[in-house]
Amino acid sequence: MARRASLIRIVLWAHQLLAEVLSPGDTAVDLTAGNGADTLFLARQVGTAGRVLAFDIQHQALRNTADRLAAEGIAGNYFTSPEDLPGVPGVCLIHDSHDRLDRYLDGPVKAFVANLGYLPGGDPSLITRAGSTLAAIRQALELLVPGGRLAVVAYVGHPSGGDESRQVDALLQGLSSRHWHIVRLQVVNRDDAPYLLVVEKR
Ligand SMILES: C[S@@+](CC[C@H](N)C(=O)[O-])C[C@H]1O[C@@H](n2cnc3c(N)ncnc32)[C@H](O)[C@@H]1O
Repeated sequence: MARRASLIRIVLWAHQLLAEVLSPGDTAVDLTAGNGADTLFLARQVGTAGRVLAFDIQHQALRNTADRLAAEGIAGNYFTSPEDLPGVPGVCLIHDSHDRLDRYLDGPVKAFVANLGYLPGGDPSLITRAGSTLAAIRQALELLVPGGRLAVVAYVGHPSGGDESRQVDALLQGLSSRHWHIVRLQVVNRDDAPYLLVVEKR
């Protein structure tokens, strides 16, 4: 049975807003593969002619992502260095930090997703950090095609989340409205809920 939509399932909003710009054959990047829900979403959108790169610093996350893809009949291949990466369609599961993104790609990318925080059910100390998150976002902005989008799901409910999300906010607020459209989607009656930032290159 289809899962019931919920107004406050922020990740579903991220998917919806990225689906608007993604087409079969596109390249898309998941900056934080985690348990694979976002990678699977991107792989479905770009299809077999498209390309998905999914980064994570944890083997377990990439294994979970590969399992999730396999359950849907999609193959994911592992990579640990840019030299090994094929320039062909498919899903590439990359065991590396997302702030090394520009070594793996030189564009163009239609969509990025960054679901920040830690692996649900995993080690909460292996968490996204402001320094590498901001570096990855800066690189993503360079690689986006006009009309392409970056979706960031930011969490404030864990100890370092507040600092990281404030720094992401500050980076995006500083982008010129002449070149970027940026929206924020937020649950207004819960202080600890994640929120969504979507950036579109004009
Ligand atoms: C909230 S989870 C991602 C959820 C995932 N997108 C999904 O659909 O299940 C955050 C992930 O970011 C990963 N992570 C933390 N720092 C990272 C980094 N510097 N580069 C890439 N991944 C990182 C963690 O290992 C964790 O798996």
